[in-house]
Amino acid sequence: MTQQQTPPTLGMGLSPANPEYQKDPFTLLDDVREQGRAVYDELFGRYIVGRFEDVQQILNDRDLNVDPRKADESSFMANFRRRFTDDTREPSMLFLDPPDHDRLRGLVTRAFTPRSIEQMRGRIGEIANELIDKVEGQSSFDLMKAFCQPYPTIVIAEMLGVDPNDQADFKRWTDDGVAAGFDPFAGEEKQQRAKVAREQLETYLRKAIAERRAEPKDDLITALLHAEDEGNFFNDEEVVSMVALLLGAGNVTTTDLLGNGLKNLLQQPDQVQILRDNPSLITNAIEEMLRYEGPVTFTGRIAVDERELAGCPMHRGQSVTLAIGAANYDPRLHKDPHKFDVTREDIDHLAFGGGRRYCLGAPLARLEAQIGLETLLTRFPNLRMPEQELVWKTVPGFRGLEKLIVEV
Ligand code: HEM
Repeated sequence: MTQQQTPPTLGMGLSPANPEYQKDPFTLLDDVREQGRAVYDELFGRYIVGRFEDVQQILNDRDLNVDPRKADESSFMANFRRRFTDDTREPSMLFLDPPDHDRLRGLVTRAFTPRSIEQMRGRIGEIANELIDKVEGQSSFDLMKAFCQPYPTIVIAEMLGVDPNDQADFKRWTDDGVAAGFDPFAGEEKQQRAKVAREQLETYLRKAIAERRAEPKDDLITALLHAEDEGNFFNDEEVVSMVALLLGAGNVTTTDLLGNGLKNLLQQPDQVQILRDNPSLITNAIEEMLRYEGPVTFTGRIAVDERELAGCPMHRGQSVTLAIGAANYDPRLHKDPHKFDVTREDIDHLAFGGGRRYCLGAPLARLEAQIGLETLLTRFPNLRMPEQELVWKTVPGFRGLEKLIVEV
């Protein structure tokens, strides 16, 4: 390999603070990946790993930690991830290590099962159609606002068993709570709104839990309360935290998968035509959407002891950033990685992470994306995207559009 002449962009340059990164993170991430297997990012005290094989191996390494309290004091994991946790209570499973992670994950998988997701199939199609009915007659609209944003929130609200009369409040708490919760660039007002929204959501969930303890229903909240794994059960606060995690981890990501994916598809009308001619390729197209511009660009791990990761010696507490957005463009695995191709064969990507923390919601996200795309293509035979300046969200580590104007 030829020696890189200029050093790759690191630090804040690999964040939404850099307009060049906002426009095209994947080219900047190519430079990082090709610089070396583990590239040190001085500003954030972290190594960035971007080659597919290395990222996959680290995701599969069962010894590594994620709890930010175990990271070097001034490191990326400690600083950035601390924002997503609150010192006054136990973090969600997303930031816990074994044995706590194993216990909580073991329980949630008893309730949030592939069967419970598959049971929603018919209703997911109805929800997609109901959202499209609302924009009937309009020749142009914001697809994010009309479809991609509300769609996953309504699906999960119905799975949880949220009363239809409460759905508008539920959606507002979810949107406001998540919007600022994950965004360090959020202003004071947005953060305050997020805090209030989270408190209201938790109050609502505590009431819903008490009601189901008194009178069980056929819904996900009841299933979580009854989930049993080797004599273990969730307590009420753990159910509140788990539901908040499902909403936080699941809604924005699914919204962004659809938004980014449709943007990429509509920018290449020949690709849209391929799907119209071969609807059976839609599931493959979703995998290409996940690879090409998945909603999660980075995740992280913390070294537990002195060991080599990606060929580099690490010390205990060292933050390691896994650049999913670099791995999914690794030319060692993907032919012509910057080409968006719905017919690409054997698509392998790390958009849902891997190993013991592999995305719990992947089957739901895939099902929603598949039904969403099918429904949009069927209901809008002339769906297209006019010229527009794309505005990206400012949440580090995530990739999603604020707005996507379409014409029908
Ligand atoms: C396209 C949509 C989605 C993407 C790209 C995505 C991506 C990811 C990734 C990369 C991870 C692993 C993080 C890590 O290892 O550090 C993860 C974990 C997780 N995801 Fe998703 N996700 C999506 C949708 C969902 C949905 C719909 C749900 C639930 C309703 C969900 C729930 C979770 C949970 C609970 C975890 C934590 C798993 C654990 O710690 O064991 N995700 N997701």
